[in-house]
Amino acid sequence: MTDVLIIGGGIIGLSIAIDLALYGAKVTVVDRQRCGHGATWAAAGMLAPEAEQLSGKLAQLGRSSRDLYPYWINKLEDLTGQDCGYWQSGIFTPITQKEQFSQYPAQCINQFVNKSALARIQEGLSKEVLGGLWFEDDAQVDSRRLLQVLIMAARSLSVNLLEGVSVYDIVAHADGNRISHLETSSGKFQAGHYLVATGAWTRELMPLPVSPHKGQMLSVFDPDRSLHRVIFAPGIYIVPRLDGTIILGATVEQVGFAPGNTAIGIQTLLTNAIALYPAIANMTIQETWWGFRPYAPKEMPLLGASNYENLSLATGHYRNGILLAPITAKLLTEHIRGGNPDPILKEFSYSQ
Ligand code: GLY
Repeated sequence: MTDVLIIGGGIIGLSIAIDLALYGAKVTVVDRQRCGHGATWAAAGMLAPEAEQLSGKLAQLGRSSRDLYPYWINKLEDLTGQDCGYWQSGIFTPITQKEQFSQYPAQCINQFVNKSALARIQEGLSKEVLGGLWFEDDAQVDSRRLLQVLIMAARSLSVNLLEGVSVYDIVAHADGNRISHLETSSGKFQAGHYLVATGAWTRELMPLPVSPHKGQMLSVFDPDRSLHRVIFAPGIYIVPRLDGTIILGATVEQVGFAPGNTAIGIQTLLTNAIALYPAIANMTIQETWWGFRPYAPKEMPLLGASNYENLSLATGHYRNGILLAPITAKLLTEHIRGGNPDPILKEFSYSQ
């Protein structure tokens, strides 16, 4: 019998599977589609606790995870021999109206860049940009490349990846304290421990406060590879990849699981992006897509224990799933193995 059965093969489920497998656990991951083809595949991959202005315990979690990233990426690249597309590009938040300077907290003073120093950060920004904030420790990773590496790493550790398997029900024992099995499209599955990592679709399985917030995105191609920084402003982020692709994101829409890109969604992203980095106007559009972020109250993921002794939660990462993958894997692995997890885990525990 498998030791741990993970429902959801996105970045969170796969990252936990890999860490558990490195400790010798027999792990199975079930995904109703192909692994990672939910929010992971859609994400721009910003590692941005500072630029996103996370606060309180979430900021602490985000910074810890960002700081783990280089080690985590090395581990995955050692396991697979593949490049994850991690790039310590830094993130720049441009300011176009004087009043915006005073909207940032005093501790951001060290990040301020004035107009005369802009070219040092990035050339070609709009003349409207008066200055901005430079977060040099924030970074990015190519989420689609990372996804392929995670799948490869999981396979190399004999994690059993079952794609195209839908979980219909998580069935509890009569005593109500433990899970007895899963009912799935491939029959009954049993394990020593279960983990729910189902992102925006969590509510279909459990009555947890996680709901979808849609994000529309597109990419353009920059043959000159002229952009070297992530640009992050209200209503738009612009994320260059090393191959010349530039990702523009993202809308935030509460429309359930309504699929598709809308004309206004794409128009707004392009207008906002061109207003900050005018060269985008002449770049060719490569692709448009959309995804569903798993929103949880106060943007706090639900991590750790559930109402069942043998079921754990790792869901509701909202805008920060890519960022929080390494720390989530570390904390949940400690929790499932029965060690002493970092006390921060308690701050994210869900109790009904
Ligand atoms: N992480 C950025 C977003 O969710 O749009």
